[in-house]
Amino acid sequence: MTDTPPDPSPVLDLLIAFRRSKTMFAAVALGVFDALAGGPKSAAALAGELHAHPDALARLLDACVGLGLLRHDPAGYANTPVADTYLTAASPRRMTGYIAFTNDILWKLWADLEGGIRDGTPGWKRSFGWDGPIFANIFRTEAQRREFTMGMHGFGLISSPEVVAAFDLSRFRRLVDLGGATGHLAVAACRRYPDLRAVVFDLPQVVPLAAELVAATEVADRVEVTAGDFFADELPDADLYALGRILHDWADDKALTLLRKMYARLPVGGAVLVAEKLIADDRAGPPWAQMQDVNMLLVTEGRERTLAGYADLLKQAGFAEVEGRRTTAPVDAVLAVK
Ligand SMILES: C[S@@+](CC[C@H](N)C(=O)[O-])C[C@H]1O[C@@H](n2cnc3c(N)ncnc32)[C@H](O)[C@@H]1O
Repeated sequence: MTDTPPDPSPVLDLLIAFRRSKTMFAAVALGVFDALAGGPKSAAALAGELHAHPDALARLLDACVGLGLLRHDPAGYANTPVADTYLTAASPRRMTGYIAFTNDILWKLWADLEGGIRDGTPGWKRSFGWDGPIFANIFRTEAQRREFTMGMHGFGLISSPEVVAAFDLSRFRRLVDLGGATGHLAVAACRRYPDLRAVVFDLPQVVPLAAELVAATEVADRVEVTAGDFFADELPDADLYALGRILHDWADDKALTLLRKMYARLPVGGAVLVAEKLIADDRAGPPWAQMQDVNMLLVTEGRERTLAGYADLLKQAGFAEVEGRRTTAPVDAVLAVK
């Protein structure tokens, strides 16, 4: 009797998963999707425009067809709707900034994941020779800051409508989104709750982009954008604070400092809404959260946590009730009430 070996599909898939990612990153970096934003083109025309080797580019374009990012018909290669929406620089939903950050920075940090696991520290020094606070490393130029933040915005437009709908927040009147970046959560919340006013609070360098994007929404008259440092400065008054993908950047001691600061400022009945992808209670999934947790190890001093992990921090800070809701979006929601 011969043993039937297990299905090798998981190993085969993971063996080449990075090739799929890198194909998309390279096509974005080379400008393929922007060049096709106006309509279909032949491989030869694109090769001339993008200063690429014609045959090599045609092979990359075919790979993008296979990945569902391009179509190829008699008129030439053309963007699919998903590429037009998320992979072109002119799209308000673009994720190209985060893709560029992933290609230029995360790719190199992940290349020495083994070093991070051995040392248990972020990879900036090992992979780039850089010291200093994480956000200084992420935002080394103004253009990088803007594009990274637009990348967060792309994620936020997908996630925030689900996060603000995860709980009934209609009793709150003043939301302050700490590290609120482009204001996508504040805008989503004001859209859903007509009696809510919101403040987007972020570092001074982020404020101009936030103000520009908020001003272009129909709830602009209810959303204010304020510059500040949530560790160093007094927090604006709120009956609801939001922390979207903030706690996962920080070790427990700093997360607790921030939570205690919010707790002290909230009225009784006030709350904090945490938007993070939750690791399952048994830590067995979901892979999105686990991959993000490993990413946090390489990039920050933080981590992804289980609902129990957030509840523990929130209760240490004084919050009485903590409830979590999983969403289908890249982040879940936790509400803690004072
Ligand atoms: C990972 S991004 C999350 C942005 C946004 N909340 C979201 O979910 O898309 C972290 C944000 O925190 C901001 N930030 C970092 N340190 C900060 C500080 N000390 N005070 C205020 N904002 C800070 C960054 O500028 C950035 O916009």
